[in-house]
Amino acid sequence: MTAHALREGGLHPSHYVGAEIPILRTNAYWNQGGEYFVAEGDESDGTLRCFHPEHALILNIEEEHLDFYPDLAAIEKVFAQLIDQTSGSVLYNVDDPNTARLCGKRKHAVSYGFSEQADYRGTDVELRNFGSSFLVFRRGEKLGQATLNVPGEHNVHNALGVIALASELSIPFDKITASLRKFEHARRRFEIKYASDRFLLVDDYAHHPTEIRATLRSAKSIGRRRLVTMFQPHRYSRTKALCRDFGSAFDDADRVVITDVYPASEPPIPGITGQTIVDEIVRHSHHGVAYQPQLQSVHRDVGNMLEAGDLVLSLGAGNIHEQLEILAADLVVAEKLKAIVGEEGEVRLYEPLSNHTTLRVGGPAQFWVEPRTEQAFAELIRFCDDEHLPLFVIGRGSNLLVRDGGIRGVVVHPHGGDFDKIEVAGYEITAGAGVKLRQVAYTARAANLGGLEWMEGIPGTVGGGLRMNAGAMGAQTFENVTRIRYLDAEGNSHVKNRDELEVFYRRFPLLEKNFAISATFCGQPAERAQIDMRLRESQEKRRTTQPAAKSAGCIFKNPATIPAGKLVDELGLKNSRVGNARVSRVHGNFIVNDGDATASDVLELIDDIKSVARKKRGIELETEVEIVGEPE
Ligand code: EPU
Repeated sequence: MTAHALREGGLHPSHYVGAEIPILRTNAYWNQGGEYFVAEGDESDGTLRCFHPEHALILNIEEEHLDFYPDLAAIEKVFAQLIDQTSGSVLYNVDDPNTARLCGKRKHAVSYGFSEQADYRGTDVELRNFGSSFLVFRRGEKLGQATLNVPGEHNVHNALGVIALASELSIPFDKITASLRKFEHARRRFEIKYASDRFLLVDDYAHHPTEIRATLRSAKSIGRRRLVTMFQPHRYSRTKALCRDFGSAFDDADRVVITDVYPASEPPIPGITGQTIVDEIVRHSHHGVAYQPQLQSVHRDVGNMLEAGDLVLSLGAGNIHEQLEILAADLVVAEKLKAIVGEEGEVRLYEPLSNHTTLRVGGPAQFWVEPRTEQAFAELIRFCDDEHLPLFVIGRGSNLLVRDGGIRGVVVHPHGGDFDKIEVAGYEITAGAGVKLRQVAYTARAANLGGLEWMEGIPGTVGGGLRMNAGAMGAQTFENVTRIRYLDAEGNSHVKNRDELEVFYRRFPLLEKNFAISATFCGQPAERAQIDMRLRESQEKRRTTQPAAKSAGCIFKNPATIPAGKLVDELGLKNSRVGNARVSRVHGNFIVNDGDATASDVLELIDDIKSVARKKRGIELETEVEIVGEPE
């Protein structure tokens, strides 16, 4: 800011600063024609001792870089030497107690700040979205108003220092304020990565508790609904030395995700991790903090908690900004998806699919989308086609094994709205793809229609039941289907009668590339008592032969020669396990999740079973569950 103000003030300065500042073009510049050289220095390695400036502008002095210094006194010693070596004015921040104590009594000291005794004083500060305005007084005399187009009170403060220095160098006030109005922030200093009415994503280099507080305060002043922050601690030594201070630095953030320490060439310190700061924040009674030790997962955790109106901040001097950049890129797509599904639809980033599968395993969906209308679904299909985004449809997730790396692209969950409609007309029941098969069974009962009772035991939706030609009690979905309505790969809708459809045991090829919208099932008039009896029979069979634990239903298709469950049983594999995935004791064709099983546990167990069946019985088991997604 100083180099820019001096340049605009006509002094042709050279400069050397520690950040990329687009308005200066390069971070170092030699200007033959100028008298001044603007150099940015800090206490980090003690080299301030080597500076012999004409003027010094001192912003603040506090405990920092305690990897290099034993204590604050040692830091102050270096600053004192710098001040001694300054031949002209020492301009100092009077609001910072350490700086004021050190500089106040020096000859040629000129103070700036908000305090009444400041030589250059700022008052009437008004913070706006991305800027501010304030009045400037010099020793009681009003110089006028200044405007900044960078956010936050800390920038007002810094600008007062620049005004003091530039004024001491005789640059007229109106020239100084004209330059300040034009000043743009440095890269990684409140850098906006994405902005829309719904979301604002900002990256900042802040890594010291004081900087974090200032950045969060600026962010809060922007007035978005919530402040969601991802933070990567920088250096083990700083994390250890300042952990208490970090504990209270995040008060202005509603949600905080902390990842592990960026070492910056330091060796680890035993017991010091991102968790150290999380513990301090929790001790400080902040309830919205979480630890994510894997840096590459931070964007997912933050992305999944997003709500319209959020301002997301990435903070840290390491590489946390890459996580915000991934989030920003995905948010661009998510916002387009949201525009397609409209207000009533739902779009979420990185939705954990373990929440949407009955086995309760699986990584996240990059884009989780719930359209509510057939038209929105059709538009999603066309959008994914145009953007070359993979599209996968998930119903109740009861026959699905999602790998731990999740599913890339768009995962559509047709649910609510058109997809939950169910209507009875004569002997026919038409149900949307999102309707549960169980609900079809009970709607049929209410209409005194029989033949659909077996559906009560299938933990799936109409869409999933069609896709798989699901079955139970010796019946299969398509035995009851009269016609289906679906969208093709271009988003066009079609209706096809049962006799036009090719269907196999647990396989319906048409829906491998097309998307079910609804199905019409046909029942037969039946006595209520008879329907109830068949429902009870189905329930009883399920209760006595299938596990109640979390599972994906039958894992293997039944080979022609023997039911898979019987085979697994005969091979003595019931109750065998990998991690928390276990073959059910109740039924050999079920794998149950005993707790935090992972998809790779389940897959390993499947492979174990297959290889024993192959070796001992020469039977090649084929999985019935659909296995999808990326390995972790
Ligand atoms: N059996 C054993 N030990 C076991 C499991 C089964 O000896 O651990 C024997 C049973 O005693 C029976 C035979 O194997 O004699 C077949 O078992 P079951 O009657 O339980 O039927 P299934 O063929 O294993 C099929 C469907 C199930 C459906 C049931 C009930 C397949 C692959 N499975 O199971 O569907 O619920 O019938 O009608 O077609 C699913 O698709 O996800 C599913 C669970």
